[in-house]
Amino acid sequence: MKWSIGYGLGVCLLALCWFQTSQAITHFEDMCRLFKTGIKIRKPGTCDSYIQCASGHGMEYQCTNGQNFDASSQKCVAATTANKAVCANVCEGLDDMWVSDPTDCANYFYCWNSVAYLGHCENKEHFNETTQSCEYISDSLCVEVANICKLVPSGTKFRREADCSDYYECGKTGSHTLKSCSNQYFDVELGKCMAKDKVECSAHSKKKICVDSKNKPVTGYVSDGATCRGYFSCNYYGSVADVDPIWLQCPEGQFFDKDIQKCAKPSSVVCTFNRCEGRGTMFVTSSKNNCHNYIQCENNVEVAEFTCLWDYFFDEAHQTCTKAMIYDGCCDGRD
Ligand SMILES: *[C@@H]1O[C@H](CO)[C@@H](O)[C@H](O)[C@H]1NC(C)=O
Repeated sequence: MKWSIGYGLGVCLLALCWFQTSQAITHFEDMCRLFKTGIKIRKPGTCDSYIQCASGHGMEYQCTNGQNFDASSQKCVAATTANKAVCANVCEGLDDMWVSDPTDCANYFYCWNSVAYLGHCENKEHFNETTQSCEYISDSLCVEVANICKLVPSGTKFRREADCSDYYECGKTGSHTLKSCSNQYFDVELGKCMAKDKVECSAHSKKKICVDSKNKPVTGYVSDGATCRGYFSCNYYGSVADVDPIWLQCPEGQFFDKDIQKCAKPSSVVCTFNRCEGRGTMFVTSSKNNCHNYIQCENNVEVAEFTCLWDYFFDEAHQTCTKAMIYDGCCDGRD
């Protein structure tokens, strides 16, 4: 059921909640976790301040000499009517309608004879200017603040935190669209889709995880499709697949084995995703080339793969190539 603003306002009028303070996020520097290093974001609700992003963190700056920040050229420029408008009264010239609060997805202003009265959607819902109502977060495209793309240049691509295989792209009008990397993950620094093992990810994609190749529901534990440690637990929902499985991880130094549905020692698990995750800096057996290959891990990331000389086998336990035959489950019979 949608929260009706008309009704909400009636209640608010009686309670005089117009003057309630805004619940807006004040740490706009946090927005840098969505953007690449180097970008400058106009600070929401202001004309002359911006946030410069570096490695996911932000620093706030202010233009000097009465200049305003222009998001598209990424510079402080002389103040104009147009660039002043972004921080002016949002209700200027409007009467009896609702507009979004440029600093918070959940806030709106009711405009009455050019005067703005602040309101707030209940139950963490988001305000939508088009429908003039509060709506479920799941129906809302609002990210962080209303019209986030009016704060950055058009064409900017930014992270979607709920799923590493998605990203957003800003269009020319200040709107944004949701895009997908399908079988890859979005790298915000490079601004493009890359192989999953090349991208640091804390929200593995749940799309098509709990289905088989024929789109039939699968229950039980399945690989997260990106790491050797991570797996999803797919619940049983009859003829429909679980679309929100829980992501779990084997303890450090163990890999998920789908055949036995358990965590096991890496040398027994066939997995061609990142075999270095959770293993620090060491050499590990590769799942390629019949136990003759090994991978150099540095800080949990694969940096290079080598083949033992003289047709030797790699012995992970002793961290060396050996003449003795090795038939670890992760590599035996695989080339
Ligand atoms: C507002 O609602 C319209 C119509 O349902 C929808 O097309 C639009 O994407 C919504 N806007 C946001 C920011 O969620």
